[in-house]
Amino acid sequence: MTSHSAFERILEPSGRADPYPLFAELRKTPVARQEDGTYVVSTYREIVELLHDPRVSSDRRNRLSTDEAPDMTPSFIGLDPPEHDRLRRLAMRHFGPPHSPGMVDGLRPACLHLTTELIDGIAGKRQADLVDEVAYPLPVAMICRLLGVPEEDEPQFHAWADQIIETLGPGEEDRAERERERQAVGLKLEGYLAGLAEDRRRQPGEDMLSGFMTYRGPEGGMTPQEVVSTAVLLLIAGHETTINLIANGMLTLLRHPDQLERLRAESGLIVPAVEELLRYEPPVQLVSSRVALDDISIAGTTIPAGSPIVLALAAGSRDPAHVPDPDRFDPCRARNEHLGFGGGVHYCFGAPLARIEAQIVLAELVRRLRGPRLVADPPPYRPSPVLRGPRHLLIEYDGVD
Ligand code: HEM
Repeated sequence: MTSHSAFERILEPSGRADPYPLFAELRKTPVARQEDGTYVVSTYREIVELLHDPRVSSDRRNRLSTDEAPDMTPSFIGLDPPEHDRLRRLAMRHFGPPHSPGMVDGLRPACLHLTTELIDGIAGKRQADLVDEVAYPLPVAMICRLLGVPEEDEPQFHAWADQIIETLGPGEEDRAERERERQAVGLKLEGYLAGLAEDRRRQPGEDMLSGFMTYRGPEGGMTPQEVVSTAVLLLIAGHETTINLIANGMLTLLRHPDQLERLRAESGLIVPAVEELLRYEPPVQLVSSRVALDDISIAGTTIPAGSPIVLALAAGSRDPAHVPDPDRFDPCRARNEHLGFGGGVHYCFGAPLARIEAQIVLAELVRRLRGPRLVADPPPYRPSPVLRGPRHLLIEYDGVD
């Protein structure tokens, strides 16, 4: 059986609670060929090099063999320049509340308001699940509000987005089946958003969907199909990552009570603390959607043209050749260059929003919860090795200020 390379063990559920020793083992071979021909890259320098290499494509159509189901209309995360750049620019133009000079900065008041409501919601109890009651509803409400998705449709999105995430990830096992499932759910989500986008075209509001449908500039606008694929991307990327940053963040702080106390005393520390969390417990552990367009020589290995490439961001951010004492959680690092948001042309589009959300909600939880402690350590994890985070985070506390 082949199932025992460090990378394969990272994919297995038993590795989920603490994959970092496996990532350390993986880094011993910076560019590791797997049995199925995938190349896994795990050291900081090599990952950064490939993130910036135009011979590394993000376009699934360069990867899938012809007997597999065709993809949904690709969104810009799955396109290469120049198509990628045009769509990303068009989307960026509408990112954030209208008439706001600071773009997403203008979302701070809404984010604080929602956070206050969510924490008030657990104030009458002594035990709460921070995933279901805080970490999940906040980013969902924020991205739905930005896009213009009605709040009452959020539960339906939750189900669709979760189903799509479960079908993602590297590995050949059940790949065709997973592709089919992903496509079926994707079509439902696309159908829903197409209807909503059409409503906005007829009656535009101040949300992103209206902007996407109506904007026409020097390089044109988005086609209705592009609007839908961009909206699906933002919904899913906006749903499924920030939850993990918040949940991993509270878990890490509760495991480091001295740091939690420091943060309570010096609220300004939340900014570097969130950067350290993105390095130390990154919500996106692997980027598994790349393919080599040409033979690429790197770290003494040649990745042959056509090979799938996985970039192990979580391993790179703990590479001792790049970060001193990488396994220590230290919010006060003098320099913190992490791979939490990727890099190069696909650098996370939502990073400013994710930072605002995590900073506000973590700062408020730290400030308001009296005597918080973990009920179970480690907590149960969501299945995905790519978007990794707790499924539940049960805590007990003595009260809420
Ligand atoms: C891309 C991480 C939140 C939208 C990425 C990538 C990473 C990442 C690693 C690069 C993927 C690649 O190279 O293929 C995260 C993390 C988040 C977060 C850790 C939260 C803590 C968000 C939010 C949004 C968002 C809130 C939406 C509002 C996107 C988009 C891309 C992207 C659209 C594709 C960018 C492109 O292809 O040019 N994100 N993300 N992300 N993210 Fe995020």
